Amino acid sequence: MSEEQGGDHASLIRPALAGLVPYEPGKPVEEVQRELGLERVVKLASNEGPYGPFPEAQDAIARAALELNRYPDGGAWRLRNALAERRGVRFEQVTVCAGADAVVGYVCQALLDPGDEVVTGWPSFPSYVLDPLKLGAIPVRVPLRADRIDLDALLAAITPRTKLVFVAAPNNPTGTTNGRAELDAYFARVPPHVLTVLDQAYFEYIDDAEYPDGVADYLGAGHRVLVLRTFSKIYGLAGLRVGYGIGPEDVVTAIGKVRRAFDVTTAGQEAALASLDGATEIERRRASNRQAMTLLEAVLYEQRLEHAGPAVANFVFVRVDDALAMNDALLRRGVIVRPLASFGAPEALRITAGTADEIQVLGAALADLAAVSAR
Ligand SMILES: Cc1ncc(COP(=O)(O)O)c(C=O)c1O
Repeated sequence: MSEEQGGDHASLIRPALAGLVPYEPGKPVEEVQRELGLERVVKLASNEGPYGPFPEAQDAIARAALELNRYPDGGAWRLRNALAERRGVRFEQVTVCAGADAVVGYVCQALLDPGDEVVTGWPSFPSYVLDPLKLGAIPVRVPLRADRIDLDALLAAITPRTKLVFVAAPNNPTGTTNGRAELDAYFARVPPHVLTVLDQAYFEYIDDAEYPDGVADYLGAGHRVLVLRTFSKIYGLAGLRVGYGIGPEDVVTAIGKVRRAFDVTTAGQEAALASLDGATEIERRRASNRQAMTLLEAVLYEQRLEHAGPAVANFVFVRVDDALAMNDALLRRGVIVRPLASFGAPEALRITAGTADEIQVLGAALADLAAVSAR
């Protein structure tokens, strides 16, 4: 029956979706430009790397374009093999999906029945809450302590019904991370019935002996952990959607059962493969991000805006008096940042570092805003 005929579809829709507010994507640059009649708009909203794909990846994408009449390799064999080899694990321990976000969704589908519990720090990455809710599972949100994930409190929130614990290190949106000693202590205590998803989406940005490698340090030591990584950030491939999980073989096999057959495009697989040996470029981008973060922090300091810290990835979390008003004011000055209500932090904005030039635009917008409010 059509809606015009007086019917509705409420009875068809799963009750688990009733209270669910979908992830709200930010506005595209072109739309903001058009709507507000702005010449230049900078996007510091989505924690992407500010640089494009590596040159080798650009070539691989151009080559792949000629073969797009074919379906991709559904098993992503070459990429899985290459990742297994480089990360020192078996092929069967690697799943490659349409972004780390897809791995989050698939591990939920593979593990969660209605009523099962999932523990996550909060504010954190929205999918850790949305994906369990879609399945009728119960997300347990554990407040951060001093803007960092409180691993002791996560452990205390685990019950016999808990199947998954999500730990983002560093955490999005706060940009802070738990270090090796804390994570060692967590893994020593986490009960064996739980799978920890250690999300290291920003892994390559951090060069610090106190920051662990989840694959070598925890999976390698026999802990029950699924480590997430992505090509969306430092590799500059966010638009192609390639991420991966490395974990216990039986979990990866289960993800293989729920994963879409052709999850990752040919261009995505080829570009990721071509990027894998870009150690020099990664180092260059890591260093340039550190400089950008220092500049961003200086710009914020100048405007007396405080951010959560230490911020170790490519973004900062800034508490402000009125996040929506400030978001709007920045938008009108050509700067797109991220309001964080959907991340559980309505009092804050998240700002991605971008390039030095983009940070200057932000600095000018903030200075103008301060001047207007001082009038
Ligand atoms: C902590 C965290 N996990 C996962 C993702 C998603 O990454 P992908 O683009 O690979 O889906 C993000 C992206 O912002 C993130 O911040």
